[in-house]
Amino acid sequence: MSVVAVVPAAGSGQRLGAGEPKAFVTVGGTPMLVRAVDGLLRSGAVDHVVVAAPAELVESARRLLPGRPVTVVAGGADRTASVLCALGALHDGGDPNGVHTGDERSGTRRGDAPEVVLVHDAARPLTPPALVAAVVAAVRAGHRAVVPVLPVADTVKRVDAVGRVVETVDRTVLRAVQTPQGFTPELLLRAHRAAAARGAAATDDAGLVEAIGEPVHTVPGDATAFKITTAWDHRIAENLLQDNDN
Ligand code: CTP
Ligand code: MG
Repeated sequence: MSVVAVVPAAGSGQRLGAGEPKAFVTVGGTPMLVRAVDGLLRSGAVDHVVVAAPAELVESARRLLPGRPVTVVAGGADRTASVLCALGALHDGGDPNGVHTGDERSGTRRGDAPEVVLVHDAARPLTPPALVAAVVAAVRAGHRAVVPVLPVADTVKRVDAVGRVVETVDRTVLRAVQTPQGFTPELLLRAHRAAAARGAAATDDAGLVEAIGEPVHTVPGDATAFKITTAWDHRIAENLLQDNDN
């Protein structure tokens, strides 16, 4: 039974402000999208990847990923919509724009029901393959929704509309959530369909699972799986890669 990873990569990267969609911005000379996809495949735990790219860059994304078991489809208006576009490609035989660019024999044919579906941001290009494997293992072990998390280091306060502190939140019960997040396909699809019916979106997929009352399991995350959101994050990623080369 196979593992498919969905990679939402259709965002514009407003906060990074690089002048091009974030997934196409390079880190250490390689586009984030390519690093994210290759990290998934290097885990040895992922058979096929479905990328949701900006509609006008679907062809460009395909050209960046030759020889890999990858399908590229057009994404949607927000992250939740992009994930749903990618899920359509693996579930119903797909978006008509989606084509295989990789090796059909090594990949999972579209329409096959995978055992595990991962959702992984293109904006987390340094995610260690071992983390990918750990999330897949947790789903295989029987957890139907799995998220990697880290403890929160900063003191966290709740504020009101004018920025006045309302309270200090107990950070020992808080976790910062990363990707890849892992799911059984049935649960992830049910959560997304319910969200679409409600007209709801979320910043992660586990949030949609929570919204339908299903349990979400946590596994230890990894600091290097951080998301590149701002120019500062991008600089940190560049520096980490330089350190690794030396
Ligand atoms: N994403 C997507 N489709 C969208 C919006 C976001 O596939 N319509 C993806 C991004 O490409 C990214 C991931 O979701 O890999 C996490 O989103 P975020 O970090 O917010 O990226 P952007 O939306 O591109 O950045 P910003 O919010 O700063 O514009
Ligand atoms: Mg965004």
